Amino acid sequence: MKVELKCISCGAVFPPSMVIYTCLKCGSLLDVVLKLDELQGIVSWNVFRARRFNVWRYRELLPVFDDSKIVSLDEGGTPLVKCDRLAKWAGVRSLYIKFEGANPTGSFKDRGMTVGVTKALEYGARAVACASTGNTAASMAAYAARAGLKAIIILPWGKVALGKLAQAVMHGAEVVGIEGNFDQALAIVRSLSEKHGIYLLNSVNPWRLEGQKTVAYEIIDQLGEIPDFIALPMGNCGNISALWKGLRELLELSLIDHTPRLIGVQATGASPVVDMFKSGSNIFKPVENPETVATAIRIGNPVNWPKAIRALRESNGLAEKVTDEEIIEAQQMIACLEGLGVEPASAASVAGLKKLVEEGALDADSVVVCICTGHLLKDPEQAVRVSRQPLKVKAELDEVERALSYIVSTAQAALLPSS
Ligand SMILES: Cc1ncc(COP(=O)(O)O)c(C=O)c1O
Ligand SMILES: [Zn+2]
Repeated sequence: MKVELKCISCGAVFPPSMVIYTCLKCGSLLDVVLKLDELQGIVSWNVFRARRFNVWRYRELLPVFDDSKIVSLDEGGTPLVKCDRLAKWAGVRSLYIKFEGANPTGSFKDRGMTVGVTKALEYGARAVACASTGNTAASMAAYAARAGLKAIIILPWGKVALGKLAQAVMHGAEVVGIEGNFDQALAIVRSLSEKHGIYLLNSVNPWRLEGQKTVAYEIIDQLGEIPDFIALPMGNCGNISALWKGLRELLELSLIDHTPRLIGVQATGASPVVDMFKSGSNIFKPVENPETVATAIRIGNPVNWPKAIRALRESNGLAEKVTDEEIIEAQQMIACLEGLGVEPASAASVAGLKKLVEEGALDADSVVVCICTGHLLKDPEQAVRVSRQPLKVKAELDEVERALSYIVSTAQAALLPSS
């Protein structure tokens, strides 16, 4: 497979053998460019569908050169769930949730890590590192463990959800919490990895996005049609960049004849990309002190903002920001109406969709896929905090009946024999 690294700003090209994360000429982001013309007629939906449903179903489109080095936990192949009750709540005709919480470590990050950690082995790395709001840490720690690599994680102290921290430490990573935010952690880990020759696995690493782009392939593969919109939360903006790359590749390979429009959603306390996109400006203004209940997207200076803006503009997309209250309400609705447990950042996609429908920015007759990026159990403390608390009573039937009186009276009629 012919592959090169290409700067998105100055167009400089570098060979895939170079361990670089940004352009050596201008410092901008790099794209992994695949020569897709070689694959015309070789790949097709039928070829893909004859294989196991996971990230590696799309092997020809994943630029890994040594199959023996692939580090996989059978990631991807996540459910695409039709959500009719939630669709009604959000105000659209047809709504699907791509449930990325079903990945091995409970988030979409696994798609990127299977490729990213494989790359680390191909390059001969001994250790990998990342800054993280939690899910990247959990995923990288798991894949590094499987690959026999050391894992170093820098995170904002006290701002990472418990489930994610539990995963990182259980998988044996070295975890350092800084008295600062994610943006500062990322700046530190970039210097650290450069100085010490440790392989960096944040989403500035373009190979990681190669794995993450498979969510685009899967959505079309499963739906069998092209949705009008795909909505997702934006933090460091790797996922929206990857999604758009995947869709563009499908178009180039004539596996789709047009692309869906993207909807990027951020929290009001951390919305630099939404603000820039909506204003039509070409000047990016980072948010100094980002804040939101959705800690996974508590990011004020997303490294991939140029790719995110490109994705939103090229797809004729929409962007919206949502409050913490709107995020929590959407999280509860997804859980209570559809039985899907997602973490707050994931619910931002649905909250943003609802808001856009209310504003009239999105046609209610649309078919929409919302990517729900992480599992509810990632942040159990938040889930308990915002939910109705369990009742504690004595271990006696009448006490339990009294506590449940409001529900027992309505529920019992259905199953009791009629007199
Ligand atoms: C659950 C969840 N949703 C969304 C995001 C944002 O993804 P990205 O940083 O690729 O924009 C993250 C990133 O950590 C996440 O963990
Ligand atoms: Zn450049």
